[in-house]
Amino acid sequence: MAEVKLTEQQTRIGEHKDGSLIVLAGAGSGKTATLVQRVGRLIDKGVSPRQILMITFSRKAAREISARVERQFGLDGSDVVVDTFHGFGYRFLRQHKDLFGLGEDMEWVILNENDQKRLLNEIGAEFAEKSNFDVKLLRKALKQGFALWSLMKQNGICPGNVSDALIGLEKARCSRTGDTPNHERVQLVDRLVAETLVQYERDKRKSGYLDFDDLLILPTKALKRYPDIARALSFQHQYIMVDESQDTNAVQYWMVKEIAQHHKNLVMVGDDDQGIYTWRGARVANLKRFIKDFNAPIAKLERNFRSHSRIVECASKLIRHNKSRLPKTAYSEDHGGDFPQFCVAQRDREMAENIVREVKARQAQGVPLSDMAVLYRTNRMTMILEPALKQAGIPYTVVGGMSFYERKEIQAITAVVRVAHRWKDWQAIKALQPYIDGLGKKGMNDLIQKLDEYDENLLGFAVHKAPQQYGKGGIVLQTFLISLFEAAYSDTEGLPQYKILERIVQWAKDGPMKLLDREKDDAIRVKRSENLDLLLHEVRLAKPDDYFQYLMEGPISDYQDSHDQGDYLTLSTIHRSKGLEWPHVMVAGFSNGLMPLDTGRMNGRPAANTGENKNKFEQDDEDDGGRPEEERRLAYVAITRAAQSLSLHHASLYHFPGGEPVVVEPSPYLEEMGLELSPQQAAIISNALDTEQPLSYQSDQKKTTGAAQSPTPRYADDESRPALNILG
Ligand SMILES: Nc1ncnc2c1ncn2[C@@H]1O[C@H](COP(=O)(O)OP(=O)(O)OP(=O)(O)O)[C@@H](O)[C@H]1O
Ligand SMILES: [Mg+2]
Repeated sequence: MAEVKLTEQQTRIGEHKDGSLIVLAGAGSGKTATLVQRVGRLIDKGVSPRQILMITFSRKAAREISARVERQFGLDGSDVVVDTFHGFGYRFLRQHKDLFGLGEDMEWVILNENDQKRLLNEIGAEFAEKSNFDVKLLRKALKQGFALWSLMKQNGICPGNVSDALIGLEKARCSRTGDTPNHERVQLVDRLVAETLVQYERDKRKSGYLDFDDLLILPTKALKRYPDIARALSFQHQYIMVDESQDTNAVQYWMVKEIAQHHKNLVMVGDDDQGIYTWRGARVANLKRFIKDFNAPIAKLERNFRSHSRIVECASKLIRHNKSRLPKTAYSEDHGGDFPQFCVAQRDREMAENIVREVKARQAQGVPLSDMAVLYRTNRMTMILEPALKQAGIPYTVVGGMSFYERKEIQAITAVVRVAHRWKDWQAIKALQPYIDGLGKKGMNDLIQKLDEYDENLLGFAVHKAPQQYGKGGIVLQTFLISLFEAAYSDTEGLPQYKILERIVQWAKDGPMKLLDREKDDAIRVKRSENLDLLLHEVRLAKPDDYFQYLMEGPISDYQDSHDQGDYLTLSTIHRSKGLEWPHVMVAGFSNGLMPLDTGRMNGRPAANTGENKNKFEQDDEDDGGRPEEERRLAYVAITRAAQSLSLHHASLYHFPGGEPVVVEPSPYLEEMGLELSPQQAAIISNALDTEQPLSYQSDQKKTTGAAQSPTPRYADDESRPALNILG
């Protein structure tokens, strides 16, 4: 974002000092820019920077806002508190761990998905055994039950007993399916799921474990229960602003409300047309609740500063098809730009080639790669795009893929560090079992059970002579632990944090885990090693007071192996592109089945998946689609990221790994945006749709590369536009 001189409408928001305000405005209207300006105005009016709290959607956005505040107002970036809801919640929990019965010497640990799953399944297995119930069946039911549980927690409900849990789960299920809750019809499996989930919460508390939803619900509950703490926090954070508030869920809203209700200085900024996380419980209803609770006046911004008028018009036409939206007008005063382009390819790989060609053409015009982005609805699109980009030698960075902290090697190192610091972190040591030669899963579980029974911790176990009752596995584990503790503790006094971590990483690389050597694929092995180096680099740069805590925050950060500096093309899911902008945006997969998303169809299965069975263990950025208005909002977010040029790429045939080849028509949004196909494009598309047997790339290599057979126009040189301007 460039430095801006606020308009009159924006100035009124920027100058707003005391009391509540809601800003509802379209994409690119300067909402975020105005909030940043407001920080400066508040400081001019005598507010201490430390009293300002800005909550934003992602750590990346938080970092960007901090940097702007620093640059524009000459502040140290950390003076103004800029955080995410999860980050804020985590800091609260650390500060008030006594409220949750955590001793001074104990720190919270944020569980990763695997830990969560393991813990849940372990508890479930015990309940299943007691009731003579099939463990596998229960595991399956737990997956769905956990998704509902997570949703309940995001709505502020976390029952502490089984009967309330049963009622809550049934209600949550019915809110998804539209059924009427029937609390009489409880089956054994429902009871077992409820028992497991209630026990899961208890076990986490006992061990100081947190899952993602806890980062929000625990602080909110505490703030409600202890109003004095909320009041103290409100004194600390006198001026609170929330960006992207359309994606705030109920518990996030309550968290901020508990604090802000004491001074009412809360400004919420959002665009209901960009609400793209309803599947995670985020609801525009919270904006309405805010207006009512705080009697908040509404301010609007109408001029779009990001995009030229042709893009803004297309976006407005599209989003007007949504029925449940607040009326808004948007216009741009930049009337010079090109119409969005629609580009047709026969097959997905050809679509990737078209994108490569477009990127190269822009590069040849002197556009840096960092000014371009390729956006897509589903992560799987990277499997189609990456090979083409690699082959063309175009450096790129993927945002929103598997997050850095979910990578196997990073999880393993985190588990090692956890064991080194928390000697009763049973989930961490269990996560390391596959790396310990001579100790099987059952052996490890038995050992941990015994340690727990004897109230022994891992350090105690390592330094004492392994007692007979631990058996052979005990000796293996002891050897492993002694070696680890030596790396972590011997002669480390006075060493900087990153040096200690360096030693631990080195130990992991060389030591009993032989983590990297186990990987057969050379490229993956190198990448894994690089990722560990990157982690060390991060720690070195961050100079944390406590690197253990720093690593624990990893899962709630947006840190990736992203290249913030340097010239890279950005590949991103639409979800992750929120709030960002690029001069040139390409949307990959502007096809029916991808936009709107219908996962079932794209896998070659008939029925649309409504997303109800989404495995909520996956804290990724994707659902399964199936909500028509939300899908349209996603398309709206994608196209409003573009400042100067927008191209929408369609392929008639997609074949994602693991699925069947499918033939699809262009996205219906094309028509809704007021764009039309050229006669050539219409011919290519109807040709493809007439083909009865879609051809798979794998089964028919020759035909896929056979450009001569393709009626798609080919381009003689890189300067050529990759596709036809459909209105031109
Ligand atoms: N008054 C202004 N003059 C010039 N440029 C402006 C002005 N206000 C905002 N901009 C620019 O317009 C672009 C969009 O602004 P910003 O990102 O703040 O919009 P937004 O409303 O937050 O968008 P989104 O809904 O996508 O989050 C930025 O490049 C910003 O610098
Ligand atoms: Mg914004």
